[in-house]
Amino acid sequence: MEQIRRSKVAAILKEAEVGKEVNVKGWVRTRRGNKFVNFIALNDGSSIHNLQIVADVPKFDEGLIKRITTGAAISVNGVISESSGKGQKVEIQATSIDVLGDCNADEYPLQPKKHSLEFLREIAHLRFRTNTFGAITRVRHSMIFAVHNFFSQKGFYNIHTPIITSSDAEGAGEMFRVTTLDMNKPPKTEEGDVDYSQDFFGKGTHLTVSGQLEGELAALAMSEIYTFGPTFRAENSNTTRHLAEFWMIEPEMAFYDLDDNMDLAEEFTKYMINYALENCMEDLEFLSNRLQEEEKGKKAEDRSMELIEKLRFVVENDYIRLTYTEAIEILMNSKPHKKGKFQYPVNGFGSDLQAEHERFLVEKHFKKPVILTDYPMSIKAFYMKQSDDGKTVRAMDVLFPQIGEIIGGSQREESYDKLLERMKALDLPEKEMYWYLDTRRFGSVPHSGFGLGFERLMLFVTGMTNIRDVIPFPRSPKNAEF
Ligand code: 4AD
Ligand code: MG
Repeated sequence: MEQIRRSKVAAILKEAEVGKEVNVKGWVRTRRGNKFVNFIALNDGSSIHNLQIVADVPKFDEGLIKRITTGAAISVNGVISESSGKGQKVEIQATSIDVLGDCNADEYPLQPKKHSLEFLREIAHLRFRTNTFGAITRVRHSMIFAVHNFFSQKGFYNIHTPIITSSDAEGAGEMFRVTTLDMNKPPKTEEGDVDYSQDFFGKGTHLTVSGQLEGELAALAMSEIYTFGPTFRAENSNTTRHLAEFWMIEPEMAFYDLDDNMDLAEEFTKYMINYALENCMEDLEFLSNRLQEEEKGKKAEDRSMELIEKLRFVVENDYIRLTYTEAIEILMNSKPHKKGKFQYPVNGFGSDLQAEHERFLVEKHFKKPVILTDYPMSIKAFYMKQSDDGKTVRAMDVLFPQIGEIIGGSQREESYDKLLERMKALDLPEKEMYWYLDTRRFGSVPHSGFGLGFERLMLFVTGMTNIRDVIPFPRSPKNAEF
């Protein structure tokens, strides 16, 4: 076969240069036709749309045509032509075809029909080859790019914070241990505990739950930084919104108070959504149709807003800002509370808000994204700035429709004495965390930051409903396949 430089499907469809000779390589989605002419739908991951290859059957070897099955990898030389078929402007009139990789049609699990998302999760090594996961993969890439664009344009520096750590940033104790000790016969201390001083790092270590504490160290010199890394939580939450390994974006800013922090969170999330609207429209249209198809059986009031309309709605409207205490009041006066419909009852100040409460506020009460502030100190992490009332901290959670909490953040406690007192009260290892406390001794300033769960944002932007479908290889309890 003659060597011609390969073109991507997306470029051929976009440029539509009729008469040009091209080479394309990709995977066959379908082949149909008769003994005179065959139509091959080819996809190479660059577009939600397939490229139609037209092969005049008599011109090709019969054995070759038979090998062009769903899933096979082929290379095609041909001429771009105007297409008379519906759904595409151009197609390729094939002059030569090579099969690069055969695909045994009897064993190939992906048939040219609709498969359930559950089934596709079981064959996650192949699900990139479906329209849905192709679209999600491209949108995810664009969103990653947008994160760096946004912060770089604003003068924030990207910091790589450690993945292996000896501190528990959230103080929730939901960490995966990292060790090279022999699990069958670990060294013991005199007291009979495992002796981690003999472990690889000379102390006990874990996978990080958050890059925030190290991020703060950088912010208190560089002014504005962000981390974007994998984070790990060993919480046994088998929900559609929790992963054991997820990616988090954590900006940290010196000289920002809670209002500045909220402004940034709102601007950032709107930028991200707008970026998707401006750069991923074809994939969003596909995902929107997919969602509408999925919801056909539902009653009108249970259907979600059309995806693109929903994204525009968030970009165009101000988020509601209110305090936790105000939210509790709304919840206590709500119908589901009075009728005992909440699975977790709300018991006034001090109750931790569950996803059902967050979604009530966002979806039923305000019908807009909501930023809740000033939570009880008792239910939030040790590092949050304490308010003068002695019972709340300057926390903020951003709540989104269909998602609930998408961002958690706060102004940080900048007073050495107050921070130390809180760490003591919570029995945190203040000696080992001397480096964190040092920032409050050497030029401490008011500062703030937050963490955005990247997959939660992906859920919102793609309209997918299970977090395991917006990360290529999900990690959740009892699930670390692939
Ligand atoms: O609210 P979280 O626990 O906050 C922190 O970790 C802070 N250190 C962030 C900061 O201030 N720098 O987590 C932040 C966000 C949540 O709002 C949620 O979107 C996401 O991370 N998240 C998860 N996403 C998927 N699976 C999980 N198990 C998650 N836990 C939290
Ligand atoms: Mg949180």
